[in-house]
Amino acid sequence: MENIHILKFFADYIEAELGIIYVEANYFQLEHRLKDIAVQLGFTDLKALYHTASMGISGQMKSLLLDLATNNETSFFRDASIFKALSEFIVPDLIKNGDKSVINIWSAASSSGQEVYSIAMELDQARLTNFSIPLCRMLASDVSDTILKRAEAGMYSQLEVQRGLPSKLMLQYFDKGETDKWMVKPLLKNNITFRKINLLHYWGGIGLFDIVFCRNVLIYQSVENKIKIIKEIVNHLNPGGFLLLGAAESLFGLSHDFEQLVHGGAVFYRKK
Ligand SMILES: C[S@@+](CC[C@H](N)C(=O)[O-])C[C@H]1O[C@@H](n2cnc3c(N)ncnc32)[C@H](O)[C@@H]1O
Repeated sequence: MENIHILKFFADYIEAELGIIYVEANYFQLEHRLKDIAVQLGFTDLKALYHTASMGISGQMKSLLLDLATNNETSFFRDASIFKALSEFIVPDLIKNGDKSVINIWSAASSSGQEVYSIAMELDQARLTNFSIPLCRMLASDVSDTILKRAEAGMYSQLEVQRGLPSKLMLQYFDKGETDKWMVKPLLKNNITFRKINLLHYWGGIGLFDIVFCRNVLIYQSVENKIKIIKEIVNHLNPGGFLLLGAAESLFGLSHDFEQLVHGGAVFYRKK
């Protein structure tokens, strides 16, 4: 690889921005993706991209570099037991004292939106039998501009809706578009705000939450970054608020601020 110092420059940039580490063994993959970006931005080659980047990275180049490094894998009702736990245990627990008029929920690495729309559908369905569930406001955020735009658009291919979305809910909450796409009905978007947030940087006055979904994103971070992000989440959770991680993630060795709970096979955490 003749461009090793160039690749190291971009790998260092990605690590500083996202906490995602490109080890040298993966530099071939990085080089391939950077060459694509060079073409997209109209540079003659990787060296020309580097020349401009070394004077400062911003705008479209920054977006493309962040997109390059992120894995956006997601699906509707991913790890379904957590959504049952949400409607059967977490929300009832939050409203048990009868003094909550709003529940604030944050999907903190929402990717293309399937997670936040699954939360909205689960709670809307739960209201059919539990009339005391109050208004639920949701914030969906991600570091990637591209994926956040997709989330906000709420438009999914046949393949995407087939992954985890029961057909009864698809027919109730989605409209069939002209181009074989399924579009989230406006009703489901009513209480969702979309915003770009990098979990490693300042979150900027987002307020306090009762429930934070931070699933399948900490997995890519160093232990130091995980501890830093979880500490910030603790600061943004109301007392008794809940943290939900991915099925392969845990708080073991990362925080003493939570008690671990289990409901219907789902593991989650309540702030002490
Ligand atoms: C694998 S997806 C998980 C999506 C969803 N939470 C789920 O579990 O299905 C990980 C998401 O984290 C986002 N991400 C990666 N690093 C991030 C960071 N530092 N701050 C915010 N989001 C980040 C990626 O853009 C991607 O959309």
